[in-house]
Parts: sequence; C-alpha cells; structure tokens
Amino acid sequence: MTLSKKAACNSHGQDSSYFLGWQEYEKNPYDEVTNPNGIIQMGLAENQLSFDLLESWLAANPAAASFKRDGDSIFRELALFQDYHGLPAFKNALAQFMAEIRGNKVSFDPNNLVLTAGATSANETLIFCLADPDEAFLLPTPYYPGFDRDLKWRTGVEIVPIQCPSSNGFRITAPALEEAYRLAQKRNLKVKGVLVTNPSNPLGITLSLDELNLLVNFVDAKGIHLISDEIYSGTVFNSPDFISIMEVLSNRSANTDLWNRVHIVYSLSKDLGLPGFRVGAIYSNDALVVAAATKMSSFGLISSQTQYLLSVMLSDEKFATNYVVENQKRLKNRHEMLVRGLEKAGISCLKSNGGLFRWVDMRHLLSSKTFEAEMELWKKIVYDVGLNISPGSSCHCVEPGWFRVCFANMSEDTLDLAIRRVKSFVDSIASNKNDDGLRCSSSKNSRRKSISKWVLRLSFHDRESER
Ligand SMILES: Cc1ncc(COP(=O)(O)O)c(C=O)c1O
Repeated sequence: MTLSKKAACNSHGQDSSYFLGWQEYEKNPYDEVTNPNGIIQMGLAENQLSFDLLESWLAANPAAASFKRDGDSIFRELALFQDYHGLPAFKNALAQFMAEIRGNKVSFDPNNLVLTAGATSANETLIFCLADPDEAFLLPTPYYPGFDRDLKWRTGVEIVPIQCPSSNGFRITAPALEEAYRLAQKRNLKVKGVLVTNPSNPLGITLSLDELNLLVNFVDAKGIHLISDEIYSGTVFNSPDFISIMEVLSNRSANTDLWNRVHIVYSLSKDLGLPGFRVGAIYSNDALVVAAATKMSSFGLISSQTQYLLSVMLSDEKFATNYVVENQKRLKNRHEMLVRGLEKAGISCLKSNGGLFRWVDMRHLLSSKTFEAEMELWKKIVYDVGLNISPGSSCHCVEPGWFRVCFANMSEDTLDLAIRRVKSFVDSIASNKNDDGLRCSSSKNSRRKSISKWVLRLSFHDRESER
C-alpha cells in the first residue's frame, strides 16, 4: 500500500533522538521493584508532583466525576450533545484560571477562547489559520522538539530558527530576530509570525519584559503574528515572575491591528498535570481567528465529560489558588534537588525559574565539540547510565553539549537514584581519564566495563542496603 505524500513525509520529526529516547525507555523502563536497572525516564515533561491534591478534590467532590449537577444526573446532556463552541461553564472557569495564574493582572474573555485537544492541537490549528504551505514562522532555538510535528508536518509551513546562543544565556535579541527574518526571505519564505514558549521549553526560563517588548515591536513593525505558547505559565517557582504577552499588550492601545495579531496557546497538560485529558485552548483577540479556529476545532474537541469535570474543579476558587501555590512550591523543591545533585557531579545548569526540566550543560563531557560527540554521549547516558534525557540537538540547539533533563515525572527516590547514576558516571569518566594518563592506552573497553559495573551496582535494592 502506498501512503499519501503527507502521511509519508518525514517532517514529523519522529526519528529525532527526542522520540527515539522514549522508544528506548519503553523497551526497558525502570521500576523500583521489577526492573531496578532499567532506564529512568527524564525526557518527559510531565508533572506528577501534585496528583494527591487533585485526588483529594475528587474524593471530596464525587458528583463532578459521576455526571451529577445539584444531585441530578446530567449523563444524557453530556453524552448526546457536543457543541464545538465548548461548554460555557468550562470556558468561564478556564478563563478565570488563566487570569489567576497571571496574578489577575490580566483578564480573559471566555468568548475569545477556542477549546482544543491539548496545546498540540491548539498550535497546529493556529498555524492552519494564520499561514499557508511554504510560508514560515520564526522560532527561537532551542525549541520544543514536538513543534516540528505540530507546526510543520500537516500544515506544510516552515520553521525558521532564531539562533540564540549560550553566550547571552539563550536570550532573544534584535539582531537574531532580524537575521532569522532575512534568512527566511533569502529562502523565499514569507514570514507570517514568530512563535515563542514562555516559560521556555527546554530552557525553563521566562521571557523578560525587554524580550517581550522586543517581540511585540518586531511583529508590529513587520505586520506579522505573535503566538505565545504559555503552557508552562503556572510552573514558575522563582523570581522573576512570569509575564504574559497579554500583560505587555494591555499596556498598548487596545483594539488595534497589533492587538489582533497576538495569540496565546494554553493547556492543562503541565500546570494541572493532565496531558491524558487533552485539554488545550487558543486565546485570540481577533474574532476572525476565533471563528476560523472554532470551525477547525471539530477535529480535536475536548469531551463534554472532561469539560464538565474540570469546570466544577476550576470554579472552586479556593482549590485552584491553593493548587497553584502548592504545586509551585513542590516544583521549586524538586528543581533544587536536581540542581544540587548535578552540582555534586560537577555539572551546571542554565539558571532557570520555571518549567518541569533543567537545561543542563554537559559540554565538558563531550569527546569533541561536535553534534556527533553529543550523540555519542547521549547514547552512553541512555544505554549505559540508564537515563533518558533529551539532547540539545533534538531541540535544534546551535551548540553541542546541552541536554534537557526533566524532574517532575518521577518519585523523589527515583530522582535520587538518577542523580547517583550521573555522579558515578562522571566519576568513572574522571577515573578512566586518570588511568588513561597513566597507562597511555585506549580507554574504550575499560571505560565501558567500569560503566556497566556501576550501573549494576546502583540498583534500587543496593541503595536500600547501603542505608
Ligand atoms: C511548549 C509546548 N507546547 C505544547 C506541548 C503539547 O502539549 P499538550 O499535551 O497540551 O498537547 C508541549 C508538551 O510538552 C510543550 O512543551
């Protein structure tokens, strides 16, 4: 059978090391009891730290999950009809929750929301609405590997990178924006907009007010769109505070053309830790975009059942406020645990203030300053050390040696074990270097042997007996 060109074309990005790492993890997943030498998944930006808060709420509010309103069943109402405009009660609750996360500095009109099956669908839908095949969006690097699939694959739209190097902390600058714009033109691509993630995936940093103003001025001057993917907006646990693009826009005159060209993507996959529920949204001030995206949302709606449950949950203001605060506290502690652990192994990270991951600098562990060496190190870390982390190259980073390491999708014990594996690995490299220096011989075999030895040593049970 021959597939269509669309189905067969490889712009999906599935063969990137980001997805390959997940496949390797699936073949040999770590389990404390059944597979203590397995691979620990640190390549998945999932938030499992606050499930107990959601579960307690569910236990205290059983009616919401059992299709009841004021004691009466609404099963038929939910089962029969799905209006693609979404349940008004849910849109109100989501708009309120989005404002709450932004410290109520901005408000959101529920009529400007389009509901989608996660941010994946929100991003693709927006691109479908704003650009034609062979037009382009500019994205700062490094960026979320899923964007190749979400923005390019089915839409036929191109991504042109805005190159952001480590020398200025991966920040977005005016020359980098202009250069990306120029390169797109050189490739005969009409630039339709800029897409940023704020806080950034994979950097874990929020955009500064200067960067946000720079972006708004840039899209204003060029007459193009700005999409701000704010899926991690509720995960900011350290100062500086998160500033939404809508806050920046609200300081400019309302109802202008610019006002209509700025759009937000949001989802409950990260802030509430519910990627399985597939709850996302587009927020736009442009009625035409809202209408077009609403029509397109037919291809990826959120089930009424999910909307109903979450409308009740998020309307519980006391719960929502407490959840956001407590979740950020837990993320902060976890992130500090990872940073301290890596520091002990002589590994530093980009200073970050949000997200579910750290952007880790392993340039000193590369055998050469190349992406080949980055892949070589990554394979060692996956197969020998037993950690699936994401290489910078999968995020289109311009410099080899950076890795994204997730910390919120596992227990504290598992993170502790992961840190110990890293430390032993780095120590083994150092001791091999010393041995090599003494013996002046090839280190390949001896290094491999010593790595395998310590991986076996570091099983969970061994760790328990060491206590
Ligand atoms: C920046 C960014 N956008 C979108 C998504 C997709 O999220 P969802 O699960 O809501 O589709 C992710 C998931 O990792 C992400 O990191």
